[in-house]
Amino acid sequence: MSSQTNKAFFDQFFPGDFWSSLDRSRFVEEDHSMFGDEHIFEFLIRTMRPQEIVEIGSWKGHSANYMMDLCKKNNIDARVVCIDTFLGGPEHWVLPGGLETLHRELGRPTILERFLGNTLARGNAGKIFPLTSDSYAASEILRLTDFKADLIFVDAGHDPVSVRNDIMRYYPRLSETGVMFGDDYQYEPLADTVHACARELGVQVLVSARKWVFANEALMRRITVPDVQVRQSFEGWVHP
Ligand SMILES: C[S@@+](CC[C@H](N)C(=O)[O-])C[C@H]1O[C@@H](n2cnc3c(N)ncnc32)[C@H](O)[C@@H]1O
Repeated sequence: MSSQTNKAFFDQFFPGDFWSSLDRSRFVEEDHSMFGDEHIFEFLIRTMRPQEIVEIGSWKGHSANYMMDLCKKNNIDARVVCIDTFLGGPEHWVLPGGLETLHRELGRPTILERFLGNTLARGNAGKIFPLTSDSYAASEILRLTDFKADLIFVDAGHDPVSVRNDIMRYYPRLSETGVMFGDDYQYEPLADTVHACARELGVQVLVSARKWVFANEALMRRITVPDVQVRQSFEGWVHP
């Protein structure tokens, strides 16, 4: 995909001086993540060589920076648009130990400050862009600006309704050869949702540990990772 495709989007929301215009004294560096399953990120990036990546659910930036580091390692000139309210999900507010990870000030989580600080520290300023919006509104922003992505990672709300909405709203944003993948396949209701969406969209589901992948034909031809399996339904979950 030519990076010219999304030029209007970046010119409008993230012009050249976007990163330099941010007040860096407010940035915080804090390496905190729930990240895992690195091999599937590596497989998808090396195989599909995406230029335009969208991540729905970025938290403090680890997965986005991991994808960008992989792109740099593989000489891919990519950028990542990170869609997040940067306010945390219910799991962060309610589960034991979650509230502290929000580092609230004035009652508001300071996740964005940490996302920006971590991204700067990892040398990816100018390559990763926070679209500070809920996933529904952001899907409209991408639709109205005709944004196209080569890789979309779904990792925001983890309840079946949110996952279904994210899959169905963002799937049309994929480029012709684009691939969508997401987290938390280990939860059966969520896995069932993923399979129901795949049937509606007419795509195959690949599963690798906790990640699901909607594979296009180009990707199906190149499956080499031994623990990636094609699945028609949940059939349990196997940790590699
Ligand atoms: C599991 S975390 C993402 C983790 C990140 N991908 C990583 O691996 O480091 C989920 C994130 O989704 C965001 N989120 C949850 N529901 C959302 C929604 N409806 N719209 C936008 N962001 C949402 C939360 O703020 C949180 O930062």
